[in-house]
Amino acid sequence: MFETIRMAPPDPILGLGEAFRNDSRPEKINLSVGIYQNDAGKTPVLDCVKQAERRLLEDEKDKNYLGIDGLGSYRTLVPRLLLGAESVALAEGRVACVQSPGGTGALRIAADLLGRHFGGMTVWHSQPTWPNHPQIFQAAGLRTAAHPYLDAANRALDFDAMVNALKGAAPGDAVIVHASCHNPSGVDPNADQWAALTEVIRAQRLLPVIDCAYQGFGRGLEEDVVGLRLLAESGETLIASSFSKNFGLYGERVGALTLVGPTTDATAAAHSQAKACVRANYSNPPRHGASVVASILSDDELTKTWHAELAGMRDRIQQMRDAFVQAMNARVPDRDFSFIREQLGMFSFSGLNPMQVDRLKNEFGIYIVGSGRINVAGITSANIDRLCDSIAAVL
Ligand code: LMR
Repeated sequence: MFETIRMAPPDPILGLGEAFRNDSRPEKINLSVGIYQNDAGKTPVLDCVKQAERRLLEDEKDKNYLGIDGLGSYRTLVPRLLLGAESVALAEGRVACVQSPGGTGALRIAADLLGRHFGGMTVWHSQPTWPNHPQIFQAAGLRTAAHPYLDAANRALDFDAMVNALKGAAPGDAVIVHASCHNPSGVDPNADQWAALTEVIRAQRLLPVIDCAYQGFGRGLEEDVVGLRLLAESGETLIASSFSKNFGLYGERVGALTLVGPTTDATAAAHSQAKACVRANYSNPPRHGASVVASILSDDELTKTWHAELAGMRDRIQQMRDAFVQAMNARVPDRDFSFIREQLGMFSFSGLNPMQVDRLKNEFGIYIVGSGRINVAGITSANIDRLCDSIAAVL
């Protein structure tokens, strides 16, 4: 049977990581997959994580299965971090949380839940978006459609085009919304646009499915969920969140699906159905990463350490944005790169076309995603000159 199966194309992001590992050129640079690196090009384990792991090593009593929806303390702490202490939905008991294997796992639970109960809906996503978004929802049997997001130069949000497209969506459709640090562009709505978007989503009776993978990587932990909170307090919402980036727990696969419903009963029913999706998929989630996050978020000292380490990552990315813009301006003075300074989070749309991206890889050993997305968090003081020389050479 397997002889009838054709080879799948490499993944547009993770496939590049594999190609990078196989590249023997010592000067190679990996700016593809969204992983934070420090200025030494390393992705160290956060100190707060190490401390929490030491405590776990001492205190953990067993390695039993978690419940289908995961660790209880984690499921209480995650919605608080996302929605904030003032959340009306939380106070009214209209919020449930399912621990998931990473943000991708949360999106897949959401997709399965929607596919089982609202199979006729279309799931809208921005064009461009993270390439896995349409795949995940299609894998659950749902139709997907793209709405415009960026202006022609790919440098700013084309808010009117996005809203006009969403006005054409049918009531009962879902729309994937990036909470902050839009992947791949780094271009987010401003406060007024969040308010207007929330109105449109509610007026059209659309279900927001918020992807929150970069809380704290843009402007700050609170600032990065302003739009998320507006949406979640305005009606039914699904939130797929990830701690891969902000806790550096990539391989531990720590995420959550948070459900905000109209009533306690409706939320409980949707929660029970989300658990049914989990049980039929991977039974119950892994415990280590969620235990680490729960230990940190339930301890003031560890939380303080985490906040400082997160701010350190965020500041370094901003410094690299500034350094990149300066270095490119020095090499290609007739081209404006200042927009890269304004983008938020790990990624920037560089404006490089697929041919230039190919040349960077083949001639210079520099790996970026085909769309021209650069992982700014992979730029270091040691690689920035070679990177900018190479980009200038292919422009
Ligand atoms: C990325 O976009 O690079 C990350 O979210 C990693 C992934 O799974 O694609």
